[in-house]
Amino acid sequence: MSLRFCNSHSLYHLLLVLVIFCSISAIYAKANEDPTIRTMEAFSGYPIHESNSFVTNLASSLSVDTETLQKRIDELSTFSDTPAPSVTRVLYTENDVLARSYIKNLMGLSGLSVREDAVGNIIGRWIGNEAVLAPVATGSHIDAIPYSGKYDGVVGVLGAIEAINVLKRSGFKPRRSLEVIMFTSEEPTRYGISCLGSRLLAGIESLAKDLTSTVDGQNISFLDGARSAGYAKEHNDLSSVFLKKGSYSAFVELHIEQGPILEEEGTSVGIVTAIAAPASMKVDFEGNGGHAGAVLMPNRNDAGLAAAELALAVEKHVLESGSIDTVGTVGILELHPGAINSIPSKSHLEIDTRDIDEKRRNSVIEKIHQSAITIAKNRAVTLSEFKIVNQDPPALSEKSIIEAVEAASKELNLTHKFMISRAYHDSLFMARVSPMGMIFIPCFKGYSHKPEEYASGHDMENGVKVLALTLAKLSLQ
Ligand code: GLV
Ligand code: MN
Ligand code: MN
Repeated sequence: MSLRFCNSHSLYHLLLVLVIFCSISAIYAKANEDPTIRTMEAFSGYPIHESNSFVTNLASSLSVDTETLQKRIDELSTFSDTPAPSVTRVLYTENDVLARSYIKNLMGLSGLSVREDAVGNIIGRWIGNEAVLAPVATGSHIDAIPYSGKYDGVVGVLGAIEAINVLKRSGFKPRRSLEVIMFTSEEPTRYGISCLGSRLLAGIESLAKDLTSTVDGQNISFLDGARSAGYAKEHNDLSSVFLKKGSYSAFVELHIEQGPILEEEGTSVGIVTAIAAPASMKVDFEGNGGHAGAVLMPNRNDAGLAAAELALAVEKHVLESGSIDTVGTVGILELHPGAINSIPSKSHLEIDTRDIDEKRRNSVIEKIHQSAITIAKNRAVTLSEFKIVNQDPPALSEKSIIEAVEAASKELNLTHKFMISRAYHDSLFMARVSPMGMIFIPCFKGYSHKPEEYASGHDMENGVKVLALTLAKLSLQ
């Protein structure tokens, strides 16, 4: 009897200990559970142990179809107004419209639902398991400045589509929807304003208003240009493009570095922490012009020489800043009437200046302005215009996105480096509506904006993998 009592008592204790042990283990497991895994389990239907291995294995199961990616980059480069190897693809031209169809078709082939806004930002969406949550976005541009190369921007669009394919092939299911954006006119070639599509997405009202009266070099209005490409059809109001802050939970752009650092150091991935502050100006001088033989030197008011002097002043003021980070370029210098035997009566310059230090960049702009006034006075020409087209602040990447890219690079065993982007990108403006980050890959000798621009298949493969894994992580957050 006492033995029986003792046995059932022990059994009771044993059961109690087991129950307590199981509960403690469950609580412990819950507390240590990766929220990523929890979400995967809740929304993808994978049991816990499978989710664990699924997430752990995601990095190793990502496989990029580099051959197809390269084939697409080559195909897209044929939509160009200049012969290969150069690429020229200007907003709303025939080749731009053809290239847009090419991109929309690829988005469709990847199973994305495609939409376009009033200025032609093209957005492909992979619907996540929690479609009500703010999506994660990636993307870049495909327009190309005159006589440039085929990788600038393109790697961030075709690479993003390939990143979606990579994730789909791996069996990944996003929690937040994933979107690929092809931004309209990152380059300022046609209407003189850079990042036109992303500036509008960022809700810059003054731009939406200005664009209704903006014309290109052929006097074709922005709205007519947009309409010729099938956009801005319903009305002149472009505010429908604006995004509300928080429309995306994250935005990540993949891009070639456009500088030599990664290649020189043999580093695979650049993690951008900030984008330098860009600004641009348009300047016009007017003089009397006249006959190149008959007007004697003391009697001239040469608008061309005023422009030449200002171009040199730009270089001087930039160098005076004392920092290697200050840069300035006169990329456009036009003379009127452009005849060898006529003194230029008008000149037009477009000046680009950038710095990672906004105050220092602004002081250079002020000095350039003062020089323009002084040069005009000394040469007795009129400074008929000094217009600051854009004077943008720098943008900082979001810590959580930097960390996600860093974690992805580490999981993929890729070397990485934190760096500043000296070129501007649509990310500069997406940062106003979404936490932002950028992934750089090496490019040949840092060449960009010229036909020699090149990124190797291996570097693109690495970039696409890091992008895919980063998107997966951000989608589950
Ligand atoms: C973009 O193309 C830039 O000029 O930085
Ligand atoms: Mn560019
Ligand atoms: Mn670019």
